Amino acid sequence: MSNIANHIAIIMDGNGRWAQQHGLKRSKGHERGAEVVREITIFCSNHPDVKYLTLYAFSTENWKRPKLEVDFLMKLLERYLRRELPVYLENNTKFETIGDLSRFSKSLQKLIAEIKEKTAHCNGLVQNLALNYGSKDEIVRAANAVVSSNKTLTIESLEEHLDCNCDVDLLIRTGGDHRLSNYVLWQSAYAELFFTETLWPDFTKENLQNIIDKFTKIERRFGGLK
Ligand code: IPE
Ligand code: IPE
Ligand code: MG
Repeated sequence: MSNIANHIAIIMDGNGRWAQQHGLKRSKGHERGAEVVREITIFCSNHPDVKYLTLYAFSTENWKRPKLEVDFLMKLLERYLRRELPVYLENNTKFETIGDLSRFSKSLQKLIAEIKEKTAHCNGLVQNLALNYGSKDEIVRAANAVVSSNKTLTIESLEEHLDCNCDVDLLIRTGGDHRLSNYVLWQSAYAELFFTETLWPDFTKENLQNIIDKFTKIERRFGGLK
């Protein structure tokens, strides 16, 4: 028996340090990071095991960064989405998001809705971008939704209202830090965690395949005995 990496979630960290190491502005690291998002998404769309790829692009805490960087990240997201539509379509990839989009500009919200609509028929990989996402925020919004629907709060009723109702199998963080930074905490209850020193702009599909190979050999017990 080997494990199937049905749902991979990635904390794409290290763009700023990559830029610094190359004597570049942080924004260049984010640009290179966006290229890697494309490479990894295409790789996963061709991988027989991977059905969901959830990528941490902007956290609920990232608004604390200097306005210049936040503004750049918003522009980059817009540029990325506009350019990416043919790539999603060619690779039969559906674009979805998790996180509270209401804090984004109306034009960005419109673009996000448009790309979702245009890729809604794709039935290969789902690329889930985590945008203004934080697990604590997601869980509180879901709990409030259960309460307003007058249902009893249970694991199932809460999960129905989470942005992402799909357990994570494999959670990867690049960039050398060993923390979860408020990412898919509920969904990762039994995820296998992998941390790599590689900075996100240097992360390759070969690195990902190596991690998947290790993941497939782990004995997952889910609290039981094997
Ligand atoms: C991750 O890279 C991308 C975002 C958080 C948007 P960072 O920008 O956090 O890069 P480092 O951690 O400073 O190197
Ligand atoms: C996590 O990285 C968020 C994203 C990758 C989008 P951060 O760089 O924001 O996390 P911390 O601050 O090091 O925990
Ligand atoms: Mg970081």
